[in-house]
Amino acid sequence: MTLVALAAPAQAAERDLLRFLTCGSVDDGKSTLIGRLLYETGQVPDDQLSMLERDSRRFGTDGANLDYALLLDGLEAEREQGITIDVAYRYMSTARRSFIIADTPGHEQYTRNMATGASTCDAAVVLVDVTRGLTAQTLRHSRIVSLFGIRHVILAVNKIDLVGADSRAFDAIAADYRAAVADLGFASVTPIPVSARLGYNLIGADLATPWYDGPSLIEALEDLPVATDGLARPFRLPVQYVNRPDATFRGYAGTIASGRISVGETLAVCPSGHQARVSRILVGDVETRSAAAGDAVTVLLDQDVDVARGDILAPATARPTSSDRLKVELLWVADQAFDGSGRYQVKIGTRLVPARLVLDQSASLLPNEVGSGVLSLSSPVAADRFRDDPGTGAVVLIDRDTGLTVGAGVITGFEAGAPHIHASPAAVNRAAHEALSGHRGGVVWLTGLSGAGKSTIAQALEQQLHARGCRTVLLDGDNLRHGLNRDLGFSDADRAENIRRTGEVARLFAETGTLVICALISPQREARAAVRALFEADDFIEVFVDASLDACRARDPKGLYARADDGQIAHFTGIASAYERPENPDLSLDTDRLDVAQSAEAVRALIQQKGWLA
Ligand code: ADX
Repeated sequence: MTLVALAAPAQAAERDLLRFLTCGSVDDGKSTLIGRLLYETGQVPDDQLSMLERDSRRFGTDGANLDYALLLDGLEAEREQGITIDVAYRYMSTARRSFIIADTPGHEQYTRNMATGASTCDAAVVLVDVTRGLTAQTLRHSRIVSLFGIRHVILAVNKIDLVGADSRAFDAIAADYRAAVADLGFASVTPIPVSARLGYNLIGADLATPWYDGPSLIEALEDLPVATDGLARPFRLPVQYVNRPDATFRGYAGTIASGRISVGETLAVCPSGHQARVSRILVGDVETRSAAAGDAVTVLLDQDVDVARGDILAPATARPTSSDRLKVELLWVADQAFDGSGRYQVKIGTRLVPARLVLDQSASLLPNEVGSGVLSLSSPVAADRFRDDPGTGAVVLIDRDTGLTVGAGVITGFEAGAPHIHASPAAVNRAAHEALSGHRGGVVWLTGLSGAGKSTIAQALEQQLHARGCRTVLLDGDNLRHGLNRDLGFSDADRAENIRRTGEVARLFAETGTLVICALISPQREARAAVRALFEADDFIEVFVDASLDACRARDPKGLYARADDGQIAHFTGIASAYERPENPDLSLDTDRLDVAQSAEAVRALIQQKGWLA
């Protein structure tokens, strides 16, 4: 039974369309409110109406009256059966305007769906039960609404009949709410006393609340300004897929997020920076000269440039920012708190990239909390600030291990320097490099105490790979500290920088189809995680060279433990400076038991298994 699957009104005039979101829970009367709005605006066809009358008599909770909430029960039932409905869209129209209502489930754990609905809406109707007053959820929802750029809020103070239509109860909630959201930057807050059940102030003025002289809910919705659509903004086409049915046709398909495009215009492929002119535009199968925001198009270019899913096509003169450090405001929607330890992927438009999140204020974020921070990505992406372009400025954070959505938010800026630095296109790309070397590029990162055997194993491994004809490079901490990292010592900050630089160099090499072997103590878990996040999961192997401190001390190949014990070396790892053991290495080598050849062989076998050598 899908009573509410009403079709979109045919040809709803775009300029008169307002999208709004409803926030509140079933207990606040949300289903009744939406059901009644649909009913009052004549959206419920006769057959559904007679079904509603019958169902109200049988299951209704409102005596002889119609139970409007039943209109929405079809969807609730589907939800309970586990059918995923993130956002249910319903349509209604009045003489003045058409509306799309984005309705999301009201339970706490569904807050993430609200975020999905909010990013496309012009206004929000926040529902409060007058008998309960403002709740934590009311304020959380208002915060999300503001986070996703909604500027207008209608506060529907519901069940006003239950308090005898008392103006004081209404005024108190309206005042509390205004005070609570004062810093959220709403352009308008319109409190309205309503009774969804009895229909007070839904359509017109109501005798039950003679003291109220403001608009009814529908009047308020009809009067709100509709946000300018994306037409005025620069052109953005996030590429959803590369359409290549045969060698003669290569088109880039997606939905235009903003702006317009015409044949002959010069576009830049972002973030790579290649440029080409638009040679053809198809909307569906139909060839056109131009297209605009909202159109699903296939664009063809006059030159064969590299374009991949996730790239953004934009005017060469008005490009999005290319950055691998995004300032974000994020709503944490996972069941577990964010504690900095997870591995994530960020989704921006159609692009998915490995990412790390570092919060500005605190180290953790509780479920349903909003925080600000910086997302460090493994490679630069093209994006806009949300307020410049919502279509290319919203982010979703996904747990790399479970695949679940853990955060949703907006880009508020880019770390200094990035906005005006556009990448130069790579003339020879990674695939071409790998074709030449005959194997994939990748990084083996050996971590462990001084004397654990990292350098020796690294050398043996490099020899083996070289003998097989592989292109290799060995980045050894000791050696790098004579050149690239000669300005760094052994403080926590210097070690972190040592590891960061080495990771960046490793990335450059990996992209040239080289097998990179890194041997650094890299004692800090956080710094190692930052390096790992620079790479796709398949391109990076963390190897823990595990030897007991006693064994390392006994080996003491460079006599450093003896000197550290004598107080000649400050901050020596394992003695005066901590080594944080890896929690989830891809491989652990117990060098108290394995010899060098066995250890190197174990790493080689893992590389082989990963398909790097094929
Ligand atoms: S890391 O901690 O920043 O990863 P890295 O691997 O580059 O260290 O350098 C470690 C090497 O520096 C050791 O093998 C040792 O030869 C030398 N060294 C000098 N002082 C220290 C120290 N205080 N702690 C650890 N290693 C040191």
